[in-house]
Amino acid sequence: MRAACARRRSAPRGGTPAPTACRRSPGRSARRSGRRAAASPPGVRARRPPAILPHHRSNPAGRGVGSPARQPRRRNASVSLLSVEDLVVRYGQGAGAVQAVDGVTFTVGAGEAVGLVGESGCGKSSLGRAILRLQPAAAGAVRVEGTDILSLPERRLVPYRRRLQMVFQDPFGALNPRQTLARLLETPLRVHGERDPLARRRRSLEMLARVGLPAAALHRYPHEFSGGQRQRIGIARALMLRPDLVVCDEPVSALDVSIQAQILNLLVELRGELGLACLFISHDLSVVRYFADRVLVMYLGRIVESADHATLWAAPRHPYTQALLAAVPRADPARRTPPAALRGDSGTARPATGCRFRPRCTAAGPHCATHDPALRAVAPGHFVACHLA
Ligand SMILES: Nc1ncnc2c1ncn2[C@@H]1O[C@H](COP(=O)(O)OP(=O)(O)OP(=O)(O)O)[C@@H](O)[C@H]1O
Ligand code: SF4
Ligand SMILES: [Mg+2]
Repeated sequence: MRAACARRRSAPRGGTPAPTACRRSPGRSARRSGRRAAASPPGVRARRPPAILPHHRSNPAGRGVGSPARQPRRRNASVSLLSVEDLVVRYGQGAGAVQAVDGVTFTVGAGEAVGLVGESGCGKSSLGRAILRLQPAAAGAVRVEGTDILSLPERRLVPYRRRLQMVFQDPFGALNPRQTLARLLETPLRVHGERDPLARRRRSLEMLARVGLPAAALHRYPHEFSGGQRQRIGIARALMLRPDLVVCDEPVSALDVSIQAQILNLLVELRGELGLACLFISHDLSVVRYFADRVLVMYLGRIVESADHATLWAAPRHPYTQALLAAVPRADPARRTPPAALRGDSGTARPATGCRFRPRCTAAGPHCATHDPALRAVAPGHFVACHLA
């Protein structure tokens, strides 16, 4: 056990690479976004590179909630906005315990969009919830600009709760059906210290307009809206406190395709305008690829590959990533890839030793049965947990 922990600690961090070079090189950015536009899901506009503007400056009145919104936050450029280190989430105890997240390490920089992709049950939501302390972590650290929020008492956690928000897959489940939108949107402001009711109302009207809902919606209840409108409300609610980072857990998977495109476009626009960092969770690689600067591929609780989205798409190195990419439908028959060989399904139990992907991997060799591969750099910014990569 101790040896396994030491191995994990010595593994390179999947997310350590700096934000993608496109911000420094507008020409390259334009070329990249042009390429991406060709591969975007139907109806989704080409992504604009986000403007790296501190979003509190967009507050015209110079007012907001709590001191950080009134004064521009000073960021330590050498420290990542979010740093997740050896995070473990476990359900249950003893022999029946499920290790949903098994020593995950990555970073998210200010304004960066990181995609987290993997099959159902691989631990994506558990990871997202543990980052926001909605789910207790069994071990590890979640640092926000260097401060481990998992070790903070509730009282000292309040300012960090404001900075990290979540958009849920099922917005209806996340919205109190007994509260009007006015109450749903303005309660977090009140809880976080905005005492002026006029300022709260101004902010909720501003957010409603921003997500494309009319002012009259303020006096309606969640059940009076469609699924797409409810997701807009969920996004407005998450952004009311002007967070630095939003964890979006499958925000479009419950919506039909045309509404998915609208919500994705809205998220991309808001991210660009507000300079938001985002951890975008999805089982759909084409959606993640469209939205994220960098992609983490998760398998049975571990990150097995991490790279910027262009590298991952063009040259995936882990057999699991290759299988996921081969399963993405392509419109152009000439560019279709044959399905990658993959045995079993995601329910396949994790083996007691060696690589956890081994029961499904057609490339597995004898070494894979005895040695658990650590995440290691195979190229600058590209990390893979496979002996053959
Ligand atoms: N509250 C819980 N109690 C016990 N086990 C749980 C609980 N929540 C999740 N799990 C288990 O933890 C593992 C990871 O679940 P999680 O919901 O994080 O996966 P996921 O990747 O988000 O899946 P999906 O794509 O279906 O949302 C699964 O095996 C699941 O059964
Ligand atoms: S380490 Fe071995 S079993 Fe695991 S993915 Fe690589 S080749 Fe397959
Ligand atoms: Mg989930």
